[in-house]
Amino acid sequence: MIIAKKWLIVGLLSLSLMSCKKTPEIILTPLEEKLASMSLDEKLGQMIQAERYAVTTATINELNLGSILSGGGSHPTPNTVEAWLALTTKMNNAAKNGSAGLPLIYGVDAVHGHNNVEGLVLFPHNSALGATHDEELLERIGKAVGVQLRATGISWNFAPCLAVVQDIRWGRAYEGFSEEPNLVASLGSAYIKGLQSEGIMATAKHYLADGGTDFDSSKNSYPIDQGNVSLTEAEIRALHLVPYIKAIQDAKVKSIMVSFSSINNQKMHGSTYWITTILKEELKFDGIVISDWEAIHQLPGSLIYQVSSAINAGVDMLMEPNKYKDVLAVMKRAVENGTIKMERIDDAVMRILKVKDDLKLSTGLASATIDMENDKALAREAVAKSQVLLKNEGVLPLAKNTDILLIGPGIDNVGYQAGGWSFSWQGEKGNEHFPNATTLLEAFTAIAQANGAHIYTQLKDASKADVVVMVLTENPYAEGIGDTKTLSLTSGLAHPDNAETIRQAKLIKKPIVTLLMSGRPLIVEDEIEYWDAFVMSWLFGTEAQGVTDVLYGDVNFSGTLSFTWPKISEANTTSSMNPDRNADDIQFEIGSGLTY
Ligand code: BGC
Ligand code: BGC
Repeated sequence: MIIAKKWLIVGLLSLSLMSCKKTPEIILTPLEEKLASMSLDEKLGQMIQAERYAVTTATINELNLGSILSGGGSHPTPNTVEAWLALTTKMNNAAKNGSAGLPLIYGVDAVHGHNNVEGLVLFPHNSALGATHDEELLERIGKAVGVQLRATGISWNFAPCLAVVQDIRWGRAYEGFSEEPNLVASLGSAYIKGLQSEGIMATAKHYLADGGTDFDSSKNSYPIDQGNVSLTEAEIRALHLVPYIKAIQDAKVKSIMVSFSSINNQKMHGSTYWITTILKEELKFDGIVISDWEAIHQLPGSLIYQVSSAINAGVDMLMEPNKYKDVLAVMKRAVENGTIKMERIDDAVMRILKVKDDLKLSTGLASATIDMENDKALAREAVAKSQVLLKNEGVLPLAKNTDILLIGPGIDNVGYQAGGWSFSWQGEKGNEHFPNATTLLEAFTAIAQANGAHIYTQLKDASKADVVVMVLTENPYAEGIGDTKTLSLTSGLAHPDNAETIRQAKLIKKPIVTLLMSGRPLIVEDEIEYWDAFVMSWLFGTEAQGVTDVLYGDVNFSGTLSFTWPKISEANTTSSMNPDRNADDIQFEIGSGLTY
């Protein structure tokens, strides 16, 4: 309110000045007036996003920082909704009281729900949501996440990831909806619309072709993440640009994050061609372009050269969690010595002012209360719709009075259900930080108890069970830590206990229902013949009842694969986008999924 008034006064004042001078031809908009009134330091401050842990309110105030982020797992203490709101309010006030008088945009990665906050509902990760093919559901999830964010005073989400994933060995495969560009485009845009309808700025990331990097077997770790894309421009446009076009032109996404990766050995953060010529000029993107976490430091040259290259390429705001003071200093030098033109700074700051104005941040983010029951019901629906039934020899649906032996490393573990970006960046291996979640064991037990049946978890009780339900998982991971050379069910990032579980299930000689709880398909070719039913459960989040809803037949299966299921680890060769794929390498085609 105060800010709006201040801008108005500046506007009116200048209008009256202009009429005195009788030069009415240049009438500036309030935002142009605002820009014209700002000092260089204030402008540069607006172009910086620092980390919560690396700033005080005094720094925000003195440097007129434009934005603050909490990276994966970064949270206030205690990690409660109230403490988050207090933190963001305090920081926002410090910003508004700065000389520029501008509100702050606080950003987080709420990539499957507001996942840094303890106790909130976590939705399935995007690879699961791809199986729903349900735009309307994605829009509702976007809205629900928007409410979770507003309740903590946060107005910017670094989501959705619009990667068109061509190689599921990539550690970020689960952040993408599909290998198929039109599906990524429609689900991503629906999510953006839902989020932005709640007054939250969405981010299409990571621009461009993050899902198309090469597998670099010469490196022992990180072979794919942040890598290089070897494709022609026509191929990049046909595969990877598609979701951005829809996000900009249809969903009106307000921010785009640049990818760590390179195209033909040119780092995206230094690419004037892709950021300015294509994104801003050809596609007419008028929101803000943000760099990824310290990504500009991967550009060649000294700090001043890195900063200038990125800003001159078209990056408007720099995600500089730690080094923001050094960066600010060199930004100023680069402007003073002409390496960065003032017009480029003004364009960047104008874009930042515009999104802040569009989001009505000066009047404060509309408050919100998280509706846990609504979120739980929505997540449960999303879980049920994302389960994919890939084999069923009559054992499913389970009768509710079935006595079940439930085994495997994932049966009572929200950390494994939720994967990376859950409470912490790399994810958790237990239930400690998910106080309101439901594990598979709890979901099965609730049904059994209500129907006089038993859920056994000890092998010694195997003879009492009618059916074995075996839950196999991956270990949680995020980003490059999740890159793997093998898609084996029993090695690489697959849980080390999977092998023993598989062996034991075969010895029991009862019908076996296998659930795979993982971010991506794993190779099942040698084992699936021993299973009577096989369900891809994905990283489904906190609401396991969505899984039991379909297993017991209360809800029919409707999910179908949005990724090809390979028989080999070289998954880049099996993608349905690869015209030279070999049918012998494919276990299940994209689109596979049975119903009752
Ligand atoms: C990731 C981004 C994320 C950012 C902030 C980076 O490492 O690549 O996806 O938005 O961190 O947490
Ligand atoms: C942060 C993440 C970020 C990553 C980049 C972590 O410390 O929590 O948000 O993506 O660093 O390497």
